[in-house]
Amino acid sequence: MQKKIIITSLGLASLIALFAYNPLHSCVKASAGEVVSPNGRNMVDVGLDNGKPFYIIEVDGRRVIDSSYISLRFRDGMLGANSELLAKETSSCDEIWEQPWGEETTVRNNYNAVRYSFRETDSLGRRFDVEFRVFDDGVGFRYCIPAQSGVDSLVLLDENIQFNLAEDAVAWSIPYDTEYYEGIYKPSPVSVLDTVCTPLTMKVTDSLYLSIHEAALTDYASLNITHERGTCLRSYLTPWSTGEKVFAGDSLKSPWRMVIIGRNAGDLLLSRMMLNLNEPCALDDTSWIEPGRYIGIWWGMHRRENTWDMGPNHGATTENAKRYIDFAAANNYSGVLAEGWNKGWECDWINDGSCFDFLESYPDFDLEEVCRYAAEKGVRLIGHNETGGAAAHYETQLDSAFALYNRLGMNAVKTGYVNRLMDGRELHGSQYAVRHYRKVIETAARHHIMIDNHEPVMPTGLQRTYPNLMTQEGVRGQEYNAWCPEGGNPTEHTVILPFTRGLAGPMDYTPGVLKYNYEVVPGTRPMHTTAKELALAVVLYSPLQMSADIIENYADQPGMEFITSCPTNWSKTVVPEAKIGEYLAIARRDRKSDNWYMGAVTGVNARKMNIPLDFLESGARYTARIFCDAENADYRTNPYAMDIHELEVDSRSVLPLTLAPGGGAAVIFARKK
Ligand code: NOJ
Repeated sequence: MQKKIIITSLGLASLIALFAYNPLHSCVKASAGEVVSPNGRNMVDVGLDNGKPFYIIEVDGRRVIDSSYISLRFRDGMLGANSELLAKETSSCDEIWEQPWGEETTVRNNYNAVRYSFRETDSLGRRFDVEFRVFDDGVGFRYCIPAQSGVDSLVLLDENIQFNLAEDAVAWSIPYDTEYYEGIYKPSPVSVLDTVCTPLTMKVTDSLYLSIHEAALTDYASLNITHERGTCLRSYLTPWSTGEKVFAGDSLKSPWRMVIIGRNAGDLLLSRMMLNLNEPCALDDTSWIEPGRYIGIWWGMHRRENTWDMGPNHGATTENAKRYIDFAAANNYSGVLAEGWNKGWECDWINDGSCFDFLESYPDFDLEEVCRYAAEKGVRLIGHNETGGAAAHYETQLDSAFALYNRLGMNAVKTGYVNRLMDGRELHGSQYAVRHYRKVIETAARHHIMIDNHEPVMPTGLQRTYPNLMTQEGVRGQEYNAWCPEGGNPTEHTVILPFTRGLAGPMDYTPGVLKYNYEVVPGTRPMHTTAKELALAVVLYSPLQMSADIIENYADQPGMEFITSCPTNWSKTVVPEAKIGEYLAIARRDRKSDNWYMGAVTGVNARKMNIPLDFLESGARYTARIFCDAENADYRTNPYAMDIHELEVDSRSVLPLTLAPGGGAAVIFARKK
């Protein structure tokens, strides 16, 4: 592994020179100096305007973010309203690090950085730092308040960081109060936005795309974006029920605020800035972390055929679990999720999760026997811990439950927090909830348990530090295609998600419903063709990915050949085609072989694509096995019509694909020996 880090700090001589030539008095608007990305295309300029810190971002010499002020309101007053620059330190980094799992094996972390140390000129005289990292794919920055005399407990009431866009743009967003982020992203001009969640993805021009989000959310309130005026946005942190945003001790370090910058929509998907801004892996041993594909005793409940709680149609019985385990073992699945295995579902759990027991199974589910049977078949049971949002109650059983699961050979747990409020009081994006989620991840790591977290706070790349945090929901997923009164997820939903929620990390969307043979709400079902449903296994990245359907529906399906061979861990990812809300093609190389897999999807419009296969290894020959919409396929009238055919290809080939309305294509490129 190549590793090179260069840190260059300004010496005393350069600091003296900085003050000599560019004295920053609090009464003038002056630049404290700019820093550019390694490729020289992205530039950040930071300065003081009458003592107030501001920053500017330029891309290829064009102003993208105009003067944007950074101000913080603490219980004891504004911080930094009148500041002077004390010091400036530059550094740079160029290193390559390896991920235990991901969309690539290695990630390059390459940036130029600058840290400004400021001091208030008024009576309090507090010191604070603002640090910028400028990458080829965007800009990250954060503020820190070091421990100092006169500061003992910091209570942040408001973070006001502006993102003052130089011009209007189209933004895809969901409202701030969208429950669990399970909304449909809608496009609108930035100038009419209200308060929205991040990632907030924007198209400024055909060759400039931006997305605002945060990285490394730790013991803090989560970031949202609100409209200030015109095209000026600013941060809005999720509050505690009492109104404060963040309680800190005598020092504070914010998560990274970041602006991803892409020259095209596909660039956004290949940005790894969020991961680079997170801390390196905190675990000494990651050998027990295993990406994989699983099935679940799950869709039957959402189809309203089974129940979570014990009764005549109980889903998680010993017998049913064994059937799922047999199916998993015969079809290359690594795990079986069993929802409704434990006591508590019989209560009014959506309003009060405190009767859930995470150690005790229902009498018709023999936990020890199911785990023993799974092990015999080379499959793992995936545990399910729905909490109904009763986080404090869950914490009382966390250690003993994870210890039990580990002893029985389970290595993954799906957690859930179905309740608008955690413990009846606090929002999922609040510092309170952020602390709880972190506790679960760390406890799970100690017991060698991977986490698939539902109803989370919006992810921020913590999987770099805790690679047992595999995947999360925080997305309007497949379940809405069972029971949503407004109909299934719109067909363009999945050609918007990768560019919005997807930028925050793996999504547990659970593609793979192949038969629409149920009716909970008339007309509600996946708005896709079968070929698109297959393609989503590649397009919607998740290192643990569930095939959502009931196993009976998989019995006679030719598409299963694609799903069950499709890996969930990749060594390389490329994006040959991308237009937000219209279409997307993603190709990924398997970590364990030289084979590539591609998913191509479209929204409501039929589409022809000609995909250059220049990502394949030059000189090698491949058999492309193509699962694509049949000529008469249409997601509305003929969703199942699919053709399977083969072509011999190499890196000079161009692959023509014809996608039906709401359609797709899934391709295996098997390298020939
Ligand atoms: C909502 C989750 O998203 C879903 O996957 C789960 O089945 C239910 N909660 C019950 O926990």
